[in-house]
Amino acid sequence: MTACIVGWSHGKFGKLDGETSESLVVKAASEAIAHAGIEPRDIDVIYVGNMNGGFVRQEFHSSLPLQTHPDLRFKPSTRVENACATGSAAIHMGLNTLAAKKARFVLVVGVEKMTELNSAQAGEVLIKASYVAEEATIEAGFAGIFGKITSAYFQRYGDKSDALAKIAVKAHKNGAKNPFAHFQKEFAYDFCRTPSDKNPFVAGPLKRTDCSPVTDGAAAVVLADVGTALGMKHAIAFRAAQHVNDFLPMSKRDIIKFEGPALAWKQALAEAKLDLLDLSFVESHDCFTSAELIEYEAMGLTAPGEGERAIHEGWVERDGKLPVNVSGGLKAKGHPVGATGVSMHVMTAMQLSGTAPGALQLPKAKVGGVFNMGGAAVANYVSILEPLR
Ligand code: COA
Repeated sequence: MTACIVGWSHGKFGKLDGETSESLVVKAASEAIAHAGIEPRDIDVIYVGNMNGGFVRQEFHSSLPLQTHPDLRFKPSTRVENACATGSAAIHMGLNTLAAKKARFVLVVGVEKMTELNSAQAGEVLIKASYVAEEATIEAGFAGIFGKITSAYFQRYGDKSDALAKIAVKAHKNGAKNPFAHFQKEFAYDFCRTPSDKNPFVAGPLKRTDCSPVTDGAAAVVLADVGTALGMKHAIAFRAAQHVNDFLPMSKRDIIKFEGPALAWKQALAEAKLDLLDLSFVESHDCFTSAELIEYEAMGLTAPGEGERAIHEGWVERDGKLPVNVSGGLKAKGHPVGATGVSMHVMTAMQLSGTAPGALQLPKAKVGGVFNMGGAAVANYVSILEPLR
């Protein structure tokens, strides 16, 4: 255990008209520093997680947090990008900086402003996180990539549309409890299961309710070494932090095995010296409902091809044996790509500190897992968090 989250902030996710990535960064950074109970001058190093790639014209983001306070001027700050795992990548850079004893306090801000583009244009940006040489002609943006993965899964293991609809229902039921979520309303099973004008097919077997939305948002954390964290008001420790990259081309992998995510989970549980079911809950990367289904298998909750058991038997419900995505997940909370990994860590820190707002708080939250994924199971990050004391 080398580091802790000692402060955090999370803005409302959604279509945030009138906000810019700059305004979102400044708000998230100042709130996280205040929550940590430190002064801006105490921050030694800054990382900004932002994927961009054309969502907004402002590409160069590293110095935007300096807008928060004059005392942040001249601090070293770097933008980090690793597709949809950008937020976790930025956090891992912070952990590495602390491990190298190059800082006492690291500020990490994740941000994405996606809704200046319509869904089709956003899809054009997101498809750049595929292996462009072979995959960029797939239609419907990144949904097209997961449409293909879902079709391949159905071909091998049978049609799992019932399970996907139940995963969507669970996400929206949980998201209805989350004041930070993009969508805060429940969706009925029949609506999610049945194609309709309001729930059309988007790509392969995936309907609109199987997809995470195009969302704006930001979240931030302050990280500190354990010695420093012992004296802080909030201290949520990293019991494990693992990062595994796999080949980019889907053609070089058995894509429905999610081998990179499985290895990241295996390594993280070994580092934490825990079994999966020792975790109180998991925030997992449900960019599409089928991603969550396959992740049940990758994390070791079920055997390959049996992921549907986890949702059909209620294991991953809020009151199940391993609640998954009690925040509403990417599906309901939203997926502002550069912010998502940071958001997952903030949601987990809130649960573990007993400070999740209202009905979102789980009754027993002792150890939490985070799985954040960039591309189609390419950049894989698992964190296991628990209160320091
Ligand atoms: N889930 C549920 N409802 C959604 C939704 C989603 N993902 N996206 C939009 N909606 C709702 C809107 O709120 C709106 O509802 P209303 O009519 O009650 O106001 C309605 O659907 C139409 O919204 P619109 O934005 O026009 O939908 P769209 O068809 O253009 O976009 C998707 C829907 C699924 C194509 C789009 O959200 C998308 O591209 N998602 C994937 C993003 C992605 O690839 N992220 C990276 C993953 S790795």
